[in-house]
Amino acid sequence: NGGVSDAKNLRVKLVLLGDSGVGKSCIVLRFVRGQFDPTSKVTVGASFLSQTIALQDSTTVKFEIWDTAGQERYAALAPLYYRGAAVAVVVYDITSPDSFAKAQYWVKELQKHGSPDIVMALVGNKADLNEKREVPVQDGIDYAEKNGMFFIETSAKTADNINQLFEEIAKRLP
Ligand code: GTP
Ligand code: MG
Repeated sequence: NGGVSDAKNLRVKLVLLGDSGVGKSCIVLRFVRGQFDPTSKVTVGASFLSQTIALQDSTTVKFEIWDTAGQERYAALAPLYYRGAAVAVVVYDITSPDSFAKAQYWVKELQKHGSPDIVMALVGNKADLNEKREVPVQDGIDYAEKNGMFFIETSAKTADNINQLFEEIAKRLP
């Protein structure tokens, strides 16, 4: 049948969580529009964008992306966005140990209150700032492995690993 009948179209609710300033909105802007904004403004509440990708086997995956606000004053809103999410992307900044600690807080929160079958990714962003790195790559790898998460380092600035992040998530969908 030429494989045509194998085509699947998936729709996936994805939430991004992480400290303010780690680059969540820039990751989404890079993925959806192929752009980078060095003067990106803090997100207020949350913002929504969607993007569809095609996989090798002609499956398409439409990501419905909730980009949450990382500032502490919005923390109480997070459950509105991660509840019912099939995928959670927890982001930290490789130059900021505080943001790595905050990422671990979000992972615990998701383990307690997220969907039991949620697919979680841990993302160390700003990989272009390697000379200012304060979170060793191995710390990210180890934490992700212990918690059954997919791990990747990205740069929204250079686009490094941004498409790979979403492709790897798509491959891990149930
Ligand atoms: P909140 O909306 O407050 O939660 O923050 P956020 O996580 O959405 O951060 P945002 O994407 O707005 O980025 C914050 C700052 O980091 C901006 O000045 C970006 O230009 C910068 N930034 C984001 N990603 C990268 C990156 O990969 N490399 C570098 N060098 N800077 C980045
Ligand atoms: Mg933002």
